[in-house]
Amino acid sequence: MQAINRALRRLPVAAVAIACALPGLWLLRGAVAGRLGVDPVARLLDETGILALQFLALGLAVTPLRRLLGLNLLRLRRTLGLAAFAYTLLHVAIWLSLDMQFLWGQIARDLLRRPYLALGAAALAMLLPLALTSTDRAVRRLGAAAWTRLHRLVYPAAVAAALHFLMLVKAWPAEPLLYLGVILALLALRLRGRPALAPGGPARAPARPREGGTSSGGFRQIP
Ligand code: HEM
Repeated sequence: MQAINRALRRLPVAAVAIACALPGLWLLRGAVAGRLGVDPVARLLDETGILALQFLALGLAVTPLRRLLGLNLLRLRRTLGLAAFAYTLLHVAIWLSLDMQFLWGQIARDLLRRPYLALGAAALAMLLPLALTSTDRAVRRLGAAAWTRLHRLVYPAAVAAALHFLMLVKAWPAEPLLYLGVILALLALRLRGRPALAPGGPARAPARPREGGTSSGGFRQIP
C-alpha cells in the first residue's frame, strides 16, 4: 500500500481533475454526435445524476479507505467533491433547460408535487455551501472547527441524493438500493471512527492538522 500511496502523492491534482471531467466530455461528445438513443435528454439527466452520486460516494469513501486499507486519497478529496458538485449542477441545468424549457411555473409545481425532486433540490442546497467553502481562504475565514461542522452536511446531502434516486423509480430496483446502502455504510463507518464530541461543543481542530485534515467527509482538507 505504501508504494501506491507514494505514487498517489506524485499524481498531479490537475490530472485527476481532468480524469473526473472525462465522462462528462464523453457524454457531450455522444450528445453532439447524436449517439444518446431515442431520448437523449433523459439519458443526459440519468448519466449526469449517476456521475454526481458516484463522485459523492467516492469522496465519502476517502476516510474509510484510509482507515481500513491505509490507502491515502486525501489530497484528492476536494477534487472528487467538486466533481460531484459540477455533475450535480450539470444535471440540474439539463433538467431546467432541456427538460423543463425554463417554464418556471411548471418547475415550481413539479418541485412541490414530486417528493423525489424536492429531495434532489435539498441535496443541491446542502452541497452548494460546501462547494462555496472549498477554498483554503474559506477554511481560514471560517476556522477549522466551524468549517468541519459545516462540511458534515455532505452526509445528509448524500443520503438525500440517494433517496432522490430511489424514489424516482416505483419498484425497488437493485441499483438505487445499492447506492443508498453504500452511502449509509460509509456514513456508519465515519460515525464509528469519529472521536466523541467534548460536552458543550464540537471537537477542537488539531493545533496543526495532520495530513488528512478534518474529520468531515466534505470537499476540502485543512491545509
Ligand atoms: C434540484 C435538484 C435536482 C433535480 C431537479 C433533479 C432532477 C432529476 C430528474 C428529473 C431525474 C430523472 C427522472 C427520470 O428519469 O424520470 C433525475 C434522476 C437522477 N438524479 Fe437528480 N435531480 C436533482 C439533484 C440531484 C442530485 C444532487 C443528485 C446526486 C448527487 C442526483 C442524482 C440523480 C440520479 C442518480 C438520478 C437517476 C439516474 C438514473 O435513472 O439512472 N440528482 N434527477
